Amino acid sequence: MNRRLPLLLAALICCLTVAAHHRHVYTLKTGWKFTRTADSTAMHPSYDDRHWQSVTVPHDWAIYGPFDANNDRQQVAIEQDGQREALSHAGRTGGLPFVGTGWYRLQFTAPTFTEGRRATLLFDGAMSHARVWVNGHEAGYWPYGYNAFYLDITPYLRQGEPNTLAVRLDNHEESSRWYPGAGLYRNVHLIVTDALAVKLWGTYVTTPVIRDTFAKVNIQVELDVPQGMNPEDIAITTAIIGDEGTPISHATGQLSPFDEGVKSMEHVVPHPQLWSPDTPHLYKAVTTVCHRGDTTDVYETPFGIRDIAIVPDQGFFLNGQRTLFRGTCNHHDNGPLGAVANATAVRRKVRLLKDMGSNAYRTSHNMPEPELIQACNEMGMMVMAESFDEWQCAKMKNGYHRHFQEWVERDITNLVRRYRNDPSVVMWCIGNEVPDQGTSDGGKLCRMIQDIFHREDPTRPCTIGMDRVDLVLKNGFAHIPDVPGFNYRSHKVQEGYRRLPQQVILGSETASTVSSRGVYKFPVERRSMAMYDDHQSSSYDLEHCSWSDLPEDNFILYDDLPYGMGEFVWTGFDYLGEPTPYYTDWPSHSSLFGIIDLAGLPKDRYWLYRSHWNKTEHTLHILPHWTWPGREGETTPVFVYSDYPTVELLVNGVSQGKRTKDLTVTIDDTENPESQRALRRQQRYRHMWMDVTYQPGTLRAVAYDSAGVARMETEVHTAGEPYAIELIPEEERPLAHGTDDLAYITVRIVDREGRLCPHAQHNIHFTVKGQGHYRAAANGDPTNLQPFHEPQMQAFNGMLTVIVGEQGETGTITLTAKGKGLRPARCTVKVE
Ligand code: GAL
Repeated sequence: MNRRLPLLLAALICCLTVAAHHRHVYTLKTGWKFTRTADSTAMHPSYDDRHWQSVTVPHDWAIYGPFDANNDRQQVAIEQDGQREALSHAGRTGGLPFVGTGWYRLQFTAPTFTEGRRATLLFDGAMSHARVWVNGHEAGYWPYGYNAFYLDITPYLRQGEPNTLAVRLDNHEESSRWYPGAGLYRNVHLIVTDALAVKLWGTYVTTPVIRDTFAKVNIQVELDVPQGMNPEDIAITTAIIGDEGTPISHATGQLSPFDEGVKSMEHVVPHPQLWSPDTPHLYKAVTTVCHRGDTTDVYETPFGIRDIAIVPDQGFFLNGQRTLFRGTCNHHDNGPLGAVANATAVRRKVRLLKDMGSNAYRTSHNMPEPELIQACNEMGMMVMAESFDEWQCAKMKNGYHRHFQEWVERDITNLVRRYRNDPSVVMWCIGNEVPDQGTSDGGKLCRMIQDIFHREDPTRPCTIGMDRVDLVLKNGFAHIPDVPGFNYRSHKVQEGYRRLPQQVILGSETASTVSSRGVYKFPVERRSMAMYDDHQSSSYDLEHCSWSDLPEDNFILYDDLPYGMGEFVWTGFDYLGEPTPYYTDWPSHSSLFGIIDLAGLPKDRYWLYRSHWNKTEHTLHILPHWTWPGREGETTPVFVYSDYPTVELLVNGVSQGKRTKDLTVTIDDTENPESQRALRRQQRYRHMWMDVTYQPGTLRAVAYDSAGVARMETEVHTAGEPYAIELIPEEERPLAHGTDDLAYITVRIVDREGRLCPHAQHNIHFTVKGQGHYRAAANGDPTNLQPFHEPQMQAFNGMLTVIVGEQGETGTITLTAKGKGLRPARCTVKVE
């Protein structure tokens, strides 16, 4: 075991950003070794890891499966869901093998690290209970798997020689209510600076005054100052650069002994370009640190200029305009990639949600990855950044409550410092449905936690997702957060407003409607906790949980109540784990809540939200599909989702009449079982024909504007026999080499006419040639147990998604798809 690794074996480390020659950021992606064997000696530099698996980081060890109902099977009663007795929950955490120990080791050199310089290891997140050793020295520990943390490894690093980094992760059973992922699932960075440098996350940019003609920008800089250095020898220069690289403002200041290493710099930006979801303008603050005239550090901070305000009785204002949150809640996993952080995967999420008209994203129920926040800054998506699903009281046997006391302050501090300059982040969510809502100390805890957020960032409001609404209205807990957030209980919102001093209400979590893409159940009626033998839910979008409701139950609130701030729908995307209502019914490994399925394919509900939220593009969508052999002559309701007020439906050219959205429907006259049965609120937002008789052929919808002019039409046809595979890349752009870039390609099974075959379930095999590799596939079916990473996947209702990745070289990637009895398909993706 006692062997010296030749330098040649040292890891390939890639230098991502080198702001200047003083600061080097190495993102440690390749050369890692990994094992799931618990070995208490693996931290030693001399340990022989040759037999371990070679992996690249980010890496999620559990996503490769296999799926098994006994992975983290939980014998519990979920109190929040109203369960009184323990049930045998299969698939609550996805049925994937994340529990247990995993070790990662890396040999690396730090070429720019020399005597007197500083080295920091930054983990964007490590799942979980990370213990880190550098050259055999224990460098640190961080239990919460979602948070970023950093360790000063200066004392342990060797210059000019290979260093050994060893990380042990430990995941506990019954620690999560969803699939958490496992391992080094986010990036790890080595940052080398001079001893005099800006602290990690050491800048804080605020915009205290914003007018049309100017904005005042304050840049607070916190330095690491080596012991014994005279502060009066240190100068800081800050510059503001516009989004096209134009210099805008510039200031220099000298440190004094009374600054204690923190300096505040004032700037004025003339005619500021404001950040908003529609205009995501960004600026950059560049901080230069000098010692006796020599530059020791250059540090860049992207930021935006935007104004946020909560106005009693009126809700949320962005840049002076009342803005409703048209938001979605999302877990951190990227479907078939597992918890692996990937910039393309999150940009895709943001792209799809923005097309739906969504302007906000809640990172339920934990700290997001930096790739997501960057995407939201650049693409224009407001973020409610969240922290905890538990405080002091347990939801899970091994949940965060075990660490709360010792770690809560550090966890909040890291979350806030990391993202306090990001304009997309407009609110902090300090807890989700914490059981502490009901304890005698709950109010004090809430106050204490909110105070830490405010201390770290006085510029953003805090909210909390509360589900025990009657209780928190009574015991005063709901009076504490800046913004009272109601999870569900849409029927309590008006009462909440009357009783709460804040005079605004946020739908911090809404709807929890369930559906499966392409699955339709008859008869068509509103149902709570409906379960079927196939473990699916109906895409007529009328099924919900016992505590939740339908999209329209929330649309109507935030359309009609002036003090409503808008909502965050549970969820934008399906996620691994929590297959409610199929708690105990295996197979079922992923949620049915998503507006978009686990493969990233929109369900019908996508078009319902789009018809209501997207104010710039029109929507006209028909459901269900129209291929129902055996249903001839049977009643088969048809819904159309459109922003147009009136739609006419025709079956084989025969009009079924026009439907006009019924704007006379109000909140109060529809809060009763009779209205729910009659789908009264739906009549305000959907076009519905409940008694269409199925006959094969063509469904045609024609949309009319308020003047009665036909503006748009669309058709759905009965499909013939499955004939061919179609491959349709989601984006036309080439991939960027060396960036872990991915191409998402939609696979469709079509008939001779190119019409989707909505029942096709063929198994499709993939081969990838050229400058890329097969990454994963998913079909959005929660009951499908095929591993995502193997190059085959069954179609689910005629569709699936396949993902190919670039591998660092330019050229072409060719993907071929084959299925029994189907004409194969091929598509190419360029890598530049
Ligand atoms: C909420 C909870 C979410 C999810 C959701 C399902 O109560 O905050 O994490 O469990 O219910 O409806």
